[in-house]
Amino acid sequence: MIRNKNLLNEGYENKFRVKSGKNQYIFLQNGKKLIDTSFCSGTLLLGHSKKFLNNSFIKQLKNGVAYGLPNTNADKYSLFLKKIFNNYSKFILCNTGSEANNKAIRLARSITKKEYIVMTSGSWHGSVDQLLFDLSSNNHLDKRELSAGLTRDLNKKIILVPYNDYKKSITILQKFKSKIAMVIVEPIQQALPSKKCENYIRNIYNYCKSKDILICFDEMITGVRVDKFSVQNNLRLKPDLSTFGKIIGGGLPIGVIGLSKNVEKKLSKQKNKVFFGGTFSGNPLVTEIGYQNLRYIYKNKKKIFGYLENLSSYFEKNLNLFLKKKKLDIKVIRYCSILRIVYTKSVIKNKFDRQKKEEYFFKKINQFQNFVINNGVYLSKRGAIFFSYSYTKKDVEYLINIISKGLLKFFK
Ligand SMILES: Cc1ncc(COP(=O)(O)O)c(C=O)c1O
Repeated sequence: MIRNKNLLNEGYENKFRVKSGKNQYIFLQNGKKLIDTSFCSGTLLLGHSKKFLNNSFIKQLKNGVAYGLPNTNADKYSLFLKKIFNNYSKFILCNTGSEANNKAIRLARSITKKEYIVMTSGSWHGSVDQLLFDLSSNNHLDKRELSAGLTRDLNKKIILVPYNDYKKSITILQKFKSKIAMVIVEPIQQALPSKKCENYIRNIYNYCKSKDILICFDEMITGVRVDKFSVQNNLRLKPDLSTFGKIIGGGLPIGVIGLSKNVEKKLSKQKNKVFFGGTFSGNPLVTEIGYQNLRYIYKNKKKIFGYLENLSSYFEKNLNLFLKKKKLDIKVIRYCSILRIVYTKSVIKNKFDRQKKEEYFFKKINQFQNFVINNGVYLSKRGAIFFSYSYTKKDVEYLINIISKGLLKFFK
């Protein structure tokens, strides 16, 4: 097994400090204004500091922000979650996405009495010791730790299958199928936002269903970002459980586990109870803001997702046209309003293929990213681009303009 060498991404993010955010902009300590393309790693679908959410926040402050008890806000929020993610009969409220994934693993092990967890390569499930692993490369199925400080026994209970390689994935799943507590997948990875991955997900899902293996979709990024509110709704799949976070908290920290009826039933029949509690779980502030945010998005869903689709496809189409015209070996890939610049036009099957090119062009990519930021656009070092409902067409034209100029300057 390979131990992690350098995971911490020491980029320009560490060189500046954000002082405030409003709509599509972030404002830095040095007075600079940047168009955001990250929006708190995809959290702020509507943009920074929305007035209606600020008002709800202030209102809730007057009623108290933490009771440490079941409360009406949390009930109202859970009911609304059911409306959006209607495959689930119960929601367990957590404080972060990582916590939700950690507890989903505990739940799966408890109801199946099995210990192995399967995850797909290139996925990110947050700061969960049990899932801080990846494959070491496309060809070698050795595991790689994504952090120092993990105990050796964790490695024995996690199985990795190569994302987007169904044949290899099935061979591995077949070998371990009787020992698997749960398969967890990030159905569309922010590492590779592409419609082409949908088939792989469908196949893995069908395999799990046919073998009675619990499957959990981690829709932390895609939940309420994609149309029909999730990849599973888009593809008409019904995972046994799913985890959500980010957008559903309206900008406040949140994580949620959705349990299907079947899982809920199994859980309730158990003698030994699974521990899900937490001081701030389901606190009235987060659940109120989360509720107001979801209610707004739900009410305006056609307008919001239609607008995001138009702007994202406009960006993808026009930037790709430019790249083709200038004969640059670069393309933009997209899944709904999650986008990414990929430094090759060849087929990329997974995160490894993408990263291989990025390592090769490391210096140029750095120069390009610095150019973009110096021209008023914040581009995350990790490369994912999230569009927000706060963008105007003019913003998107500006993004296309600056990004094209930067790519031409450093890659021609
Ligand atoms: C797919 C996915 N799962 C889980 C997480 C962890 O969520 P959190 O950072 O809220 O713990 C993330 C965070 O980026 C994520 O992208």
